[in-house]
Amino acid sequence: MAEDLKIKKGTKEEQYIALLPQIKGLITGETNQIANLANIAAALKEQFNFFWVGFYLIEGEQLVLAPFQGPVACTRIQYGRGVCGTCWKENRTIIVPNVDEFPGHIACSSLSKSEIVIPVYKGNNIIGILDVDSSELNDFDAVDEQYLTEIVALLS
Ligand code: SME
Repeated sequence: MAEDLKIKKGTKEEQYIALLPQIKGLITGETNQIANLANIAAALKEQFNFFWVGFYLIEGEQLVLAPFQGPVACTRIQYGRGVCGTCWKENRTIIVPNVDEFPGHIACSSLSKSEIVIPVYKGNNIIGILDVDSSELNDFDAVDEQYLTEIVALLS
């Protein structure tokens, strides 16, 4: 398998459309979850240069930091806390246009301004979340939600 990612220019949607089959190719046939999470985080970082992109996995009543790309981050997040813990508790995607306006937002870095958090499932069970942070305000919309949801569905 060729490990080089083909970076595509164009609209955000065009970039996701080009990236999706490449991510599928990277993880198909690989059963190790950490390896797959690591390559998804790396591919998203490489294509979009997000400020921070990575996973937290559920362990008991906490989310624990898993493969990511970007600055060091909080290691553990309690159920229902911050954007990530709220996504887990409410079992739904959360888009935060301005993190300063989200009650209880956990600031791993003051440079992060907006964020999208998506539940990750194995079968019907939520096993963790995908968190993508931007240093720009209002950087995420329905296009990100659609394609990031499709990407994490590859793990299911
Ligand atoms: N901002 C997140 C914490 C995780 S970091 O941004 C990487 C939250 O409020 O849950």
